[in-house]
Amino acid sequence: MPCKLVAGNWKMNGLRADLDEMRALIAAHPDPDCGMLICPPATLLAPMADLAQGSRLLVGGQDCHTAKSGAHTGDLSADMLADAGARHVILGHSERRADHGEGSDLVAAKARAAQEAGLTAIICVGETEAQRDAGTTLEVVLGQLLESVPDGANAGNTVIAYEPVWAIGTGRTPTLEQIAEVHDALRAAVPDAEMSLLYGGSVKPGNAADIFALANVDGALVGGASLKASDFGAIIAAL
Ligand code: G3P
Repeated sequence: MPCKLVAGNWKMNGLRADLDEMRALIAAHPDPDCGMLICPPATLLAPMADLAQGSRLLVGGQDCHTAKSGAHTGDLSADMLADAGARHVILGHSERRADHGEGSDLVAAKARAAQEAGLTAIICVGETEAQRDAGTTLEVVLGQLLESVPDGANAGNTVIAYEPVWAIGTGRTPTLEQIAEVHDALRAAVPDAEMSLLYGGSVKPGNAADIFALANVDGALVGGASLKASDFGAIIAAL
């Protein structure tokens, strides 16, 4: 059985004062039935890992470099994330693919670096609205999967997140049939059938249970609704 996971991506949000939300989350969910992960901005990684000590809350990074160290101003290596307390790292998010021109080859190289550092890579794939309208969703998503997932990826070191670009931060979600179609195709294509498949894109307390009821959905990658302990907790409770 793939592991169940609800992951929060804080993106470029969060100051030290917002760590109180995590204290509230830990207090409300001391023993969740699934993995409970928050990927804060890098500035909050170590303090969040410190406050998560002894709890079930996992913390993760939002990106890493391919190299272990070196002259790469502003970048963070997978080893640095692990050293700060991360267990996971999000890679190939559509915002990085769009804002930083990251292609799937680079994502695969980053995932390899994450594997070597002992991190679980959460590799994101997803179509744009134009690609969906053109009927190429499966082709795009499966192509990204093939090119972004490196050799050696298995259920222990890799999670796949399906995030339709047009559903991110828009309040729009695909129909349950559309989510199921992509997740079923991903399940058939992943190199390890036990690999967890997360859905991401406008997941909220109100729609999480229906999405989680789908056969090949093993959890969620949550953006906006992960910033509030009460919303994120409600999504965890729905899994
Ligand atoms: O990585 C999570 C994300 O892109 C989804 O964001 O705000 O639509 O839940 P949101």
